[in-house]
Amino acid sequence: MATQSIKPMVAGNWKMNGTTANLKEPRLLAGMLRGVKLKCDVMVCPPATLIRRVKAVMKGSMIKAGGQDCHAAVSGAHTGDISADMLKDAGATAVIVGHSERRTNHKETDAMVAAKAQAAHKAGINAIICIGETLDERKGGKTLEVLTSQIKASVPAGCTAANTVIAYEPVWAIGTGLTPTVAEIAEAHAHIRKELSAVMAEEGAKTRILYGGSVKPTNAVELMGIANVNGALVGGASLKAVDFIGIIKAYI
Ligand code: PGA
Repeated sequence: MATQSIKPMVAGNWKMNGTTANLKEPRLLAGMLRGVKLKCDVMVCPPATLIRRVKAVMKGSMIKAGGQDCHAAVSGAHTGDISADMLKDAGATAVIVGHSERRTNHKETDAMVAAKAQAAHKAGINAIICIGETLDERKGGKTLEVLTSQIKASVPAGCTAANTVIAYEPVWAIGTGLTPTVAEIAEAHAHIRKELSAVMAEEGAKTRILYGGSVKPTNAVELMGIANVNGALVGGASLKAVDFIGIIKAYI
């Protein structure tokens, strides 16, 4: 399947930012997209405390809401954690798993990420599985090797193009203003596509591969034009509707 025929997705990851005072941004975003025929899926992933309210202020729009992490279990004695079922109950249709900040700050392993993705699928929501190399790994020429091992170990059985999105986020590009070159992104995404076909069979060719790491309105068009880039996972620039819409516009 030609990668151009894959419906792109632009997802905003608010990280640990946002209270009710920030609800004006998704409200504004929904207003800006009113009447626009979207050729991509748009998703906002606020803190879990805001999912329901973000959904409410975007009511009537095609914009979806997602979570930023979930526990692998359905329920139980896991103080402070949140399950995929709970996210779904709050109105999420997807959850980000394996973000590098989770992998680093919470020592999440590939196996834990795979279990979380499976939990998402079991709850009936999609998993956005993040992978990406560190600066040392890139400098050491290990990028493709790292991506292969992350895909093999964090993309569980049962993943399909409909229930799974992969986000390639070089750790050193997140929040830094740095991005890999077009050639480096093309190489990484082509490699991910090949490896996805190995673990997901024919579904791998149809699965969306987002690029994430310092995506801005100023580089969105160039990034979306790269082969096998099927959208963007956006951190900082998703917090302000005017910036986020600038990125979404590359896909409409
Ligand atoms: P950034 O974050 O766009 O602020 O670099 C991306 C991410 O962490 O998903």
